[in-house]
Amino acid sequence: MTDKHYTLIDPESGAELQLKRYDPTLGPSVLDIGALYGKLGVFTHDPGFGATSCCESNITFIDGEKGVLVYRGYPIEQLAEHSSFIEVCYLLLHGELPTPAQLAAFDESIRTHTMINETLLRFFNGFHHDAHPMAMVTGVVASMSAFYHDSTNISDPADREVFAHRMIAKIPTIAAAAYKHSLGQPFVYPKNDLSYCANLVNMLFAVPSESYEIKPIAVEALDLLFILHADHEQNCSTSTVRLAGSSGTNPYSAIAAGISALWGPAHGGANEAVINMLEEIGDASQIGKYIAKAKDKNDPFRLMGFGHRVYKNYDPRATIIRKMCHRVLETVGQENAVLLELAVELEQLALKDEYFIEKNLYPNVDFYSGIIYRALGIPTSMFTVMFAIARTVGWVAHWQEMVADPKSRIGRPRQLYNGPGLRDYAPINKRD
Ligand code: CMC
Repeated sequence: MTDKHYTLIDPESGAELQLKRYDPTLGPSVLDIGALYGKLGVFTHDPGFGATSCCESNITFIDGEKGVLVYRGYPIEQLAEHSSFIEVCYLLLHGELPTPAQLAAFDESIRTHTMINETLLRFFNGFHHDAHPMAMVTGVVASMSAFYHDSTNISDPADREVFAHRMIAKIPTIAAAAYKHSLGQPFVYPKNDLSYCANLVNMLFAVPSESYEIKPIAVEALDLLFILHADHEQNCSTSTVRLAGSSGTNPYSAIAAGISALWGPAHGGANEAVINMLEEIGDASQIGKYIAKAKDKNDPFRLMGFGHRVYKNYDPRATIIRKMCHRVLETVGQENAVLLELAVELEQLALKDEYFIEKNLYPNVDFYSGIIYRALGIPTSMFTVMFAIARTVGWVAHWQEMVADPKSRIGRPRQLYNGPGLRDYAPINKRD
């Protein structure tokens, strides 16, 4: 990292401040404004953090103008084609691709941490049958800190590693338990001889009364979707994990905070919202009406699965998912082909529309993922949970990076206060 300086001049006093410029391996340089308040007495103002780097990170990089996404330097297209979700987890956590022995040991560790404490399992009975699975998953993950005391000493690297493996291994089990609870079906225990995604499929769909055959296309499609969703640098939920974790709270609570942030429709909740939107549109003749609604400033409707804070080009994940979507529908869930046709047509019309062109609004990762989930028999309410399973490794990797960074401080943003000026308290009988 080289450093150069920018000079900032206070227009009133003429005081000068040298702002250090850091040049990263990839992406725009950043200015260190840490001394700004101390020297010139002003804050910076950037609601939504559109131009603010909040940490130094070595995990993931996005070039939003070019539509590029890399994990630890490896392009997402190469990882999607050649890697597996478990290998990508290792890469995100450790920074390098594993040797065969390292991968085997990591895989073994994840496979043998899949069960959850039976008492934790009974928590699900406290939820009403129609509770949203995201609500159940958030609550149960937050409760993990009450069970796994040997992994909450955040200053101990061994505790941090046990936490990481537990979290990645148990999140599919928790997700499947939430789903089974919503169906009123018995919980299916994890099987450690199955791969990560095969185990998840089995826990979601098997029932004790009959044998269940895991469909290879389901395992393949989930593995791909999980690779694509595994990390996305400082997005809303990851930043939430970092902010919550910066107080020194236990890591399970920090992850639960991230899951809550993911749920919103502007973030991970968009995959559910896309399917609801496509169903509401119904057929191709209605697309024009919905595009007009999305463009209407007086209508809160947005084209779900379109637009991104960072990508001002095609989201590279959407391109890969669209291809898989066609493959999945050739094998299973053909009845969803109508939904895919509608999505493709909506995409084509939106991409030709001046409003979407001018604002650089392209399909994002969530535009096609829901159609795959639907074809695999996963209900809409579980879509964001599937995203949470995949993103858990990203949250864990960022939390670990933050905790290990000696420069980390508690996250504490400042504000532009525009409330009332200083005034005296008025006794109740003196108020009009
Ligand atoms: N439909 C219609 N107009 C849109 C859309 C959309 N989907 N997205 C952005 N715009 C317009 C927006 O109205 C604004 O117009 P103007 O400049 O005239 O005020 C302009 O484009 C910029 O939008 P913004 O809201 O300032 O952009 P942002 O970076 O704050 O928001 C976003 C990004 C993803 C929240 C937004 O594009 C959106 O709400 N998209 C739909 C929800 C969605 O698909 N979310 C998933 C994101 S990818 C996965 C993930 O993060 O988990």
